[in-house]
Amino acid sequence: MKIILLGPPGAGKGTVAEQLQHDFGLLQVSAGELLREEVSKNTSLGKDIKQYMEKGELVPDEFVTQMMKLHIQDKENYILDGFPRSVPQAKDIEDLNVNLVIYIDVPDDVVVERFAGRRIDPETGNTYHLKYVPPPEEIKDRLTQRKDDKPEVIKERLRIYHSITKPVRDYYKKKDLLKTVNGAPPPKEVYEEVKKVVEEFLSK
Ligand code: AP5
Repeated sequence: MKIILLGPPGAGKGTVAEQLQHDFGLLQVSAGELLREEVSKNTSLGKDIKQYMEKGELVPDEFVTQMMKLHIQDKENYILDGFPRSVPQAKDIEDLNVNLVIYIDVPDDVVVERFAGRRIDPETGNTYHLKYVPPPEEIKDRLTQRKDDKPEVIKERLRIYHSITKPVRDYYKKKDLLKTVNGAPPPKEVYEEVKKVVEEFLSK
């Protein structure tokens, strides 16, 4: 099964993907994670990518599409988290024949609050929120914040989301692949809704 998780920055795509991976045995392939890995290698390519990400801009389509295709080649069961994020990216993966696109709908003001409290565990890669997804006490001191979670970068990520990524939702709606889930409630409730959508699809 091939699922796309779509939604604004901070909608909870990564949080939902981690649970889907666990419950349905699907591989989570996160465009943002793979790009951050490349940046951490400090190669000249990594340095170029870093410039886009730190400004909240999209990394060029051709590169991201190629990177994602490389990671999923020969695989049949995965979740694409944060990809495609532009209509050209969506058109470039037509041949994958994705089964389901889940759009996690969250308003901009909720996104801003989520980023303020988001923390990452550098050892496991797990994501927490100081208020909504509290980390265990013993790992609190080692948690980090993402560089692109600064208010001015968040503003740019949201602007790009509305102008370039939102049309991807309409693209999949026309193809009758889109299911929308309200992403504003607490994580457990959002995940239950997503799970229901996946189970309904599998029972068809
Ligand atoms: P990426 O890493 O994909 O960032 P994003 O899409 O902006 O999404 P996030 O990872 O920030 O949020 P999320 O929706 O996964 O939410 P999360 O689960 O963490 O991309 C980063 C950058 O890489 C882009 O800006 C771009 O430069 C580049 N890039 C990536 N993909 C690209 C592409 N396809 N093309 C070109 N460039 C690309 O949750 C957020 C917080 O809220 C967490 O703290 C979490 O604990 C909490 N939370 C989650 N759910 C809930 C809930 N229901 N209630 C309360 N809190 C919640």
